[in-house]
Amino acid sequence: MTSDPVLVAERVVRGFGGVRAVDVEHLTVERGTITALIGPNGAGKTTLFNVLTGFDRADGGRWSFDGTDVTGLPAHRIARLGMVRTFQLTRVLGRLTVLENMLVGARHQPGETLRRALVPALWKGKRAADVDRARELLDRFALGAKAGDHAASLSGGQRKLLEMARALMNEPTLVMLDEPMAGVNPALARSLLDHITALRDEGRTVLFVEHDLHLVKSVSDRVVVMAQGAVVTEGAPDTVLRDPAVVDAYLGAHHDTDLREIIARETARETAGETAEETG
Ligand SMILES: Nc1ncnc2c1ncn2[C@@H]1O[C@H](COP(=O)(O)OP(=O)(O)O)[C@@H](O)[C@H]1O
Ligand SMILES: [Mg+2]
Repeated sequence: MTSDPVLVAERVVRGFGGVRAVDVEHLTVERGTITALIGPNGAGKTTLFNVLTGFDRADGGRWSFDGTDVTGLPAHRIARLGMVRTFQLTRVLGRLTVLENMLVGARHQPGETLRRALVPALWKGKRAADVDRARELLDRFALGAKAGDHAASLSGGQRKLLEMARALMNEPTLVMLDEPMAGVNPALARSLLDHITALRDEGRTVLFVEHDLHLVKSVSDRVVVMAQGAVVTEGAPDTVLRDPAVVDAYLGAHHDTDLREIIARETARETAGETAEETG
């Protein structure tokens, strides 16, 4: 595959007091792929998201999105360029309706305030288009019937869906999802996975954080592993999830997560599948 990265980061560093939360030498995300970002708790995944998307500042490093240097740009400008993210803890505004939450995500063009004052008809047209887009997305994420409800009435899983839907308001190129499946029931996790696949199939690039390696393996084209702030390894899911460095990264900080066991189970599952294909 010839490389066509949508995101390139070099020597990105972010420390808190004595802790190097992020110390990433090099990271690329290839266009049109689903890339999973995995690693134990505290590995720096969320901090890396925060820095790259302008929600936190870096102590050093440079990164570019779609060929444009976006180092240090504020979050709203990065989002406007087409690089959007969701949050590990959802940031749904409970006192607004579901539809209003969607419109908060709508793009604000430079000079829009001025145009809005000078050409009200133009603003109205844009607003109507935003509402159409919002309703279309809410339908797609099975939230259409909730459009007029306060977002506070949504379940945890529905909030995850709303965040993902809202992230799509501006037709982003790169969608970064921080633990989109965490804490949702298995059926909804499945549906979120299908949405992630659909995003890639419509030409977007997805970078998502996930702990469940079975889910990671089933959906991602590439896997990037972080531990203690650094990228430990990256590559195809099959290769990466068998890498001893990955096992160490998990076992090092996570004595209760036996990756060896997970990998053994996965391998057994695959072998069983292959045998079934051969005989069947
Ligand atoms: N705002 C902050 N202040 C101080 N330490 C932080 C802050 N945010 C994250 N950290 C620390 O940075 C490290 C990485 O955290 P985080 O990025 O949340 O990891 P992950 O998302 O991989 O679980 C952890 O040691 C965490 O305690
Ligand atoms: Mg996190």
